[in-house]
Amino acid sequence: MKGLRVGLDVGTSKVCALVAEASRESEPTVIGYGVAPCTGLRKGVVVNIDAAVEAIRAAVGEAEKSAGIKITSAVVGIAGSHIEGLNSHGIVAVRGGEVGVRDVQRVIEAARAIAIPLDRQIIHILPQRFTVDDQADVRDPIGMAGVRIEAHIHVVTAAQTYAQNLIKCSERAGVSVQQLVLEPLSAATAALLADEQELGVALVDIGGGATGVVVMLRGAVMHTAVLPIGGNHLTADLAAGLRTPTAEAERLKIAYGVATNHVVKSDEVVQVPGVGGREPRAIPRRLLGEILGPRMEEIFALVQRHLIRSGVTDSLASGLVLVGGSSLLQGTQELAERVFNVPIRHGLPVNLKGMPEELMKPMYATAAGLVLHSNAENAGANGADRRRRWEKMRSRVSGWVRDFF
Ligand SMILES: Nc1ncnc2c1ncn2[C@@H]1O[C@H](COP(=O)(O)OP(=O)(O)OP(=O)(O)O)[C@@H](O)[C@H]1O
Ligand SMILES: [Mg+2]
Repeated sequence: MKGLRVGLDVGTSKVCALVAEASRESEPTVIGYGVAPCTGLRKGVVVNIDAAVEAIRAAVGEAEKSAGIKITSAVVGIAGSHIEGLNSHGIVAVRGGEVGVRDVQRVIEAARAIAIPLDRQIIHILPQRFTVDDQADVRDPIGMAGVRIEAHIHVVTAAQTYAQNLIKCSERAGVSVQQLVLEPLSAATAALLADEQELGVALVDIGGGATGVVVMLRGAVMHTAVLPIGGNHLTADLAAGLRTPTAEAERLKIAYGVATNHVVKSDEVVQVPGVGGREPRAIPRRLLGEILGPRMEEIFALVQRHLIRSGVTDSLASGLVLVGGSSLLQGTQELAERVFNVPIRHGLPVNLKGMPEELMKPMYATAAGLVLHSNAENAGANGADRRRRWEKMRSRVSGWVRDFF
């Protein structure tokens, strides 16, 4: 039986609806998409419901047309600096001397029993590792002999009002929300390789209004954060610095902007159109670097703070993977290499099959990951029989990307 997997990325710059078809036997393959500009968000959260609904409707309508299907539900991405990620752990006694599915469920319950304020809701519970008696760093404890099991987990929570506004927008546009997924986590699912997740890696999604960070080690999520700063700040700095309209600053940024002047030849010149009837003027391209560089450095300094907070900076053997539209700013990789002093690469949504070429860009990693999360969710829901449930539980424990959510 074939089914639809829909990802809906409601971003500060654009909404992207991505539709894939999947069956029990086959991986999801993209069959259509729609992208629409969005003005209803600021810094990753909805601030204007009508504008957000309109953009979702436009993107979903386009996706329906291109795929020739009707979209009724989707996995939707959530971001914003209200997102909090924290690590927790819990211990329970093992019943009957051998760890069973129930024991794993109970110990995760114990670990998640942390005080969460009433105005916040849990978005994800991500197991990191288990300890059975004295044996630490166990990924799949089911079937192991022992009397005591401990679970370490990462919990992601969101402010309820922001989450509810996002759900409201989606529903008003005719799309029910199957599940909310943290946007950078979704981008990580689409762009990170299995080896990187094992060896230690940080995914950094630099979007229009926000920058998301996810740190992974030994296949588990160790740290998550969303910073309220992104490409719109770069554009605003340029508009102010060059005294030019925002639309023009955006165009200049994309065409000639640089994150560091290391990538600019000393004599390069760019034309800036005049405002209010003034003559166009020629400016050295290095001026763009002088304006944009410090802001990008500020973004990286905030990211660095989160990497340190994750407590695993010494273990990031695979370095940083950059996604999001603003990672395309020329010189971003060079600047990141200098700031972080670890290997840096650009990420693309490589883990989803059938991505059209025009979507093989860093700003579509989130939408692609949402489709993969939708697939994981559906794979679990279809097989109601005991054996499949058991398998799902096992893979939940051993592979967060495939099945936990
Ligand atoms: N070639 C480029 N060079 C520099 N910046 C770019 C380039 N292409 C796109 N951008 C910037 O990328 C940003 C949009 O990125 P993206 O589509 O990832 O954001 P979003 O997902 O809509 O927003 P967010 O995730 O912050 O809510 C804009 O600020 C845009 O100016
Ligand atoms: Mg985004």
